[in-house]
Amino acid sequence: MNYLIETIGCQMNMCESDVLSSVFSAYGASKVSSLSDADVAILNTCSVRAQAEQKAFSYLGRIKEFKQKNPDIKVVVIGCMAERLGSKIKKRFNSVDLIIGAKDIDNAALRIMDLFHMSDFAKKVNSEIKSEVTRYVTIMKGCDNYCSYCTVPFVRGKEISVNFEKIVNKCSSMVKNGAREITLLGQNVNSYKYEDVNFAALIKKVATIENLKRIRFMTNHPKDLSDDLIKIMATEPKVCSHIHLPMQSASDKILKAMNRKYSHEHYLKLIKKLRAAIPAISVTTDIIVGFPGETDEDFEDTLEAVKTIKFDGLYVFKYSPRPNTKASGMIDDVPLQEKKRRHAVILEEANKISIEIVSEIIGSTQQVLVEKIKNGIIKARTRGGRKVFAKGDKEEYLGKHINVNIKEAKVNSLFGNII
Ligand code: 5AD
Ligand code: SF4
Repeated sequence: MNYLIETIGCQMNMCESDVLSSVFSAYGASKVSSLSDADVAILNTCSVRAQAEQKAFSYLGRIKEFKQKNPDIKVVVIGCMAERLGSKIKKRFNSVDLIIGAKDIDNAALRIMDLFHMSDFAKKVNSEIKSEVTRYVTIMKGCDNYCSYCTVPFVRGKEISVNFEKIVNKCSSMVKNGAREITLLGQNVNSYKYEDVNFAALIKKVATIENLKRIRFMTNHPKDLSDDLIKIMATEPKVCSHIHLPMQSASDKILKAMNRKYSHEHYLKLIKKLRAAIPAISVTTDIIVGFPGETDEDFEDTLEAVKTIKFDGLYVFKYSPRPNTKASGMIDDVPLQEKKRRHAVILEEANKISIEIVSEIIGSTQQVLVEKIKNGIIKARTRGGRKVFAKGDKEEYLGKHINVNIKEAKVNSLFGNII
């Protein structure tokens, strides 16, 4: 089976596509990068914003055309949009052979291979034959927070934490197969709880795995970020100094309407605590502009917060109403033009700040973990999560910490020389 897999959306989707690929390769299937080489095209979808769904529809449109000339190709849609719109997708695109929603994702690999009568071929799967340096592990599924704009609780269901023993075993087996950095994933990792093990305790357990060099995690919720976690970030050398902490807005009125359950003051306190405990920490965030009822003043508060906090990176989104959510019943009263303006203003400010931050990195020496080596260039990451490129082709660097002296800095990547 030659498979093509296209992934739209968050790290969770990336992780789930990655798991599929490793199961497939254990069964001898090959990943391809063009439709003409594929026996099956898999689309992993996202429902968080309307734009992500439109992207999936246009991709399916292209596949439909391809299938008219190449009727043997199988088409599979998985993930959040498959969960939310399964039968509608099938109605609109008769080219789609199989739909597997986000809640059934655990069975996806076998169901896809069933299309090719492959799952009898070898029942025992070693899903850990991949040898990438950086891997992702899902530690919890679903979400119970019901932020008023968000579709995730509807498409991914209730929050369930995975047994910590399973997580540690999975991480250990990945490390045995070459992984050196693991990112623990969940919609709100701060509320991880299995029996008496909370998130900070889970990190401690994962950190005991020999040969594992780095631990990352995402995503966090400001209402649940604990002092315990800050402490472990400050004291456990394997935990990278990066936190993605979605702020969404700096207006208390909007935060309340979003059902975020924290005030802006609380958010600022967290940033202060984090920076005091981990001076080198890099902080990234998500912001929504144009939420229902967001006035100019509310927006100015958010812009001011962006200027004072100086995030190392941020994602900004124009609010779009999602079905079933509480906010979809509110009047979407910020005109699209104004949402676009606010979006552009935040981005411009964020870019200015990024340029300031990265220009300070020039001349410094950064400890990086080497993730890939290709055509004489190593690709690595700083502890804060910035991409670094340097000349070097020694295979032995792969998966190792090395020091790079930074010579040039762009907003999204740094360039330097190995020391
Ligand atoms: N409209 C705009 N942005 C949204 N996000 C989630 N739902 C919506 C929506 N309906 C953003 C939030 C979240 C990120 C993953 O996507 O900022 O943190
Ligand atoms: Fe959505 Fe809020 Fe849950 Fe994040 S915490 S997945 S924004 S409901």
